[in-house]
Amino acid sequence: MPGPIRWPAWFGDLTPVAYGADYYPEQWPEEVWADDMALMAQAGVNLVTVGVFAWAKLQPTPDSWDFGWLDRVLDLLAEHRIAVDLATATASTPPWFTTRHPHSALVTAQGVRLTHGSRQVWCPSSPAYRRASLELVERLAARYGDHPGLALWHVSNELGCHNAVCYCDQSATSFRAWLKLRYGTLDNLNWAWGTDFWSQRYGAWEEILPPRATSSFGNPTHQLDYMRFSSDELRGQLAAEAGLLRRLTPEMPVMTNLMLPSAWGDLDYARWVDLVDVVANDHYTDSADPRRHVGLALAADASRGLAAGQPWLLVEHSTSAVNWQPINRAKGPGELRRDSLVHLARGADSVLFFQWRASQAGAERHHSAMVPHAGPDSELFRQVQALGADLARLAPLVGSQTVAPIGLVVDQPSWAASRLDCLPSHRLDFEAGLRAWYEALWDAHLTCDVIPSSAAFDRYRLLIVPHWSLMDLVQAERLRDYVEAGGHLVVTFFSGVADASQRVHLGGYPGALRDLLGVRVEEFRPLLDGERVQLSDGAVGTIWTEPVQAVDATVLARYLDGPSASYPAVTRAERGRGLAWYVSTQLDSAGLGELVDRVAEQAQVPRIDAPADVEIVIRRGPTAQYTFVINHSTEDVGLRFNGVDLLTGDRGPVIVAPAGAVRVVEQPLG
Ligand code: GAL
Repeated sequence: MPGPIRWPAWFGDLTPVAYGADYYPEQWPEEVWADDMALMAQAGVNLVTVGVFAWAKLQPTPDSWDFGWLDRVLDLLAEHRIAVDLATATASTPPWFTTRHPHSALVTAQGVRLTHGSRQVWCPSSPAYRRASLELVERLAARYGDHPGLALWHVSNELGCHNAVCYCDQSATSFRAWLKLRYGTLDNLNWAWGTDFWSQRYGAWEEILPPRATSSFGNPTHQLDYMRFSSDELRGQLAAEAGLLRRLTPEMPVMTNLMLPSAWGDLDYARWVDLVDVVANDHYTDSADPRRHVGLALAADASRGLAAGQPWLLVEHSTSAVNWQPINRAKGPGELRRDSLVHLARGADSVLFFQWRASQAGAERHHSAMVPHAGPDSELFRQVQALGADLARLAPLVGSQTVAPIGLVVDQPSWAASRLDCLPSHRLDFEAGLRAWYEALWDAHLTCDVIPSSAAFDRYRLLIVPHWSLMDLVQAERLRDYVEAGGHLVVTFFSGVADASQRVHLGGYPGALRDLLGVRVEEFRPLLDGERVQLSDGAVGTIWTEPVQAVDATVLARYLDGPSASYPAVTRAERGRGLAWYVSTQLDSAGLGELVDRVAEQAQVPRIDAPADVEIVIRRGPTAQYTFVINHSTEDVGLRFNGVDLLTGDRGPVIVAPAGAVRVVEQPLG
């Protein structure tokens, strides 16, 4: 059961949970480094990410290089037996670079060229950037590829954070090349984009521009293709850096840190993960979200979903407040520990933070860190030390897999398209819909993988598909095969509506899914703000309704009022050995909860009985399973287990998790 990190030889056969942070020694005088080593030992740190924003230090001028300081840092870390996740340092270009290559800087849709002075200002289609970044990667790989402390390569940093889309002329040229590959001929493109609408027909490739600022609504497929293209350009950078690293250091694993879940709406991550050896994610909770721990769990389950169920790496989160939200709330008692262990429960084999030592200067000087401004004599550092000790006890579970019988399906193009204009209702928020279903599963103590629509479906007893609006007939066929073979499928409103080019399937909604779901809808009847509809089963709907005709499906609930009064609202069709449910409105949380119970029962998904707000997640290895009990409630809970808590040594038959506490119960298998 190897973990995803190539641990240096001094770790022997031990595969620890990776614990550490982004480490920016270049921000500090060298005297501080010795203190860092001592404190890292106290905290139990065993892996740090180095060099993420070090380009300007490594290449101070176009023609000079300075690796001396990094040599000393890596040697010092190795001496203290701390492994390194070495960044390629390509995330942020130095000021000399943009001065010398002004066309490498990103241009907005309004035509404003950005300038240096922040970070990640490069255009993903810039040849000058590509050349310079690969030279840097090559030098780093040549110099450090066989350094004894190197454990992992870290490509760039959050690719697409700040520079996901550029509208410059270089991008226009690359976009045309991308379109030629996708469509072959202009006729195909004109058909896919529907350019006979509003006199948009293109007669030459050169007429096609990025979707820059224009008079009114832009062509929807032009915009969607630009999002696809932009994601592919960043993927190209990942492919170039990862490819070079693989060629120069074939044994060393390569990853890049994703920004799940929100950035998935812009970036087609399912197409990126085949380029890395391990999925890695950065996650920050939202101060304004009262159930932020559920949002955190969703991010973790999406990381695991993209990793096809395999362990993944948490490479950034925060010990306490961030600095970029309107109000940067500090974490409450026990929250740091719970947050870290929820990621671990849900398949992470690492707990890394941004960052090791709180910066004294710069834009992120008010961001929390493992060592706060107050220094090690602080409550926060004591929590960091305690977490390090906990993680050392959890080493046995590295490499084990989280058990998830349900797939919550994300169709990325549908998510991207939902962010465009001219839709039936802009109250339909793809991410909110995903979260609502996720939350209902979380409340029911059901663990799901949040998977891309291209994933294998047959490992799940139940699939939930929110708002998969862009569905080709082949994809609809895959869902039909899944159901006929005994799968249970729940589809929500605004699914199956159009093809990948957003051309609407004719004959009634939900288009590609009409036959599978056994329903037909002639028009959408979205609700106004504040409008609510009552369903016959007691549930309440908001946002959306449809006058559903149940052609070949059983009606489970009807609308009692509102624009679709008397029509079916929730239906179920039997197909082969499985069931296909259709939900045509946004159910309130009670309604969603009841439906989830019903669907899970029909699908015979194994259930865990636990009190509300007590999160239960299981990781399973070859010889033992590990049940995480994360008590988010204000009451102590006792659960029956025939096992031992790895954190406290407590043994069953009853293991008590006090309010706010975490238990990890190991039970032998077989
Ligand atoms: C991440 C980024 C880090 C740091 C962190 C602050 O998005 O990768 O460099 O900025 O946010 O929360």
